[in-house]
Amino acid sequence: MKRKKLDEAADLLRERAGGTLDAAIILGSGFGGVLRDRISATPLAYKKIGMPEPTVPGHAGEALVGQLHGRRIVAFSGRFHLYEGYEPLEIVYPVAVAAHAGAKTIVLTNAAGGVNAKFHAGDLMLIVDQLNLTGRSPLVGRVPFAGVKDRFVDMVDAYDPNLCNLARHVAMQYSIVMHDGVYAGLIGPAYESPAEARLLRVMGADAVGMSTVLETIAARALGMSVVGFSLITNAHLTGEATSHAAVIAASQRGANDVARLIEGIVANIDAPLPAPIEAPAKTEDSVPV
Ligand code: HPA
Repeated sequence: MKRKKLDEAADLLRERAGGTLDAAIILGSGFGGVLRDRISATPLAYKKIGMPEPTVPGHAGEALVGQLHGRRIVAFSGRFHLYEGYEPLEIVYPVAVAAHAGAKTIVLTNAAGGVNAKFHAGDLMLIVDQLNLTGRSPLVGRVPFAGVKDRFVDMVDAYDPNLCNLARHVAMQYSIVMHDGVYAGLIGPAYESPAEARLLRVMGADAVGMSTVLETIAARALGMSVVGFSLITNAHLTGEATSHAAVIAASQRGANDVARLIEGIVANIDAPLPAPIEAPAKTEDSVPV
């Protein structure tokens, strides 16, 4: 990752946002439109900040840079995936640009399949931990990328407990039902077979997707605080078929809740910590293996 390219992109973001960024948001499949009407900003095409056009339907390829609830933010609408042939460093480039533009907090969103039998399509999950099952890492290489001092990143509390607590408050405020859960990131692009879905459950996953885990590793390596949400678009253990079109349609239906959570987090990033809400008892099921 070239320092000069990152610096130029970060300069442009700061210029458009009117100063150092407070937070970054990565919008998953189907969430692209979700903040467009809420941020006072003109979209910036990815190519202006050294990024390629996403190839996947549901991923727009533009950065919304501006103000949301008085905070300077960038929202990346469209991300890059291993299954498109991108390398980990290309996938985490938006995270690095946001960090270089000063963002200390990042909100990651995705669409995911539920592998907890208690999860239903349309549910929201607060990501409290992850399984990186991609076999890849953005920190592999002779030199870790620009801005990373230590490649041996601690992944305890990678999803910031204070931001998780704030997210639970916001969900409660809007009566959004939200589970806590572990997100497993795989390369895809085939959806999981029923046997793989059962295996993931046994491994401790509650939801599975094809993104996010490398971004979280990069964000932690860059010293950012991470909060993440999965919208469960399909429930694996029901045995129902999954298609990209159905995933996009389900994520568009849940987009409003995702927008509310993002807004609630951004509006309160530097507010005094709300009283801790006890993490909900983990939604347990029993999976026949
Ligand atoms: N598996 C992987 N990625 C996904 C899924 C899924 O079931 N649903 C949405 N993204």
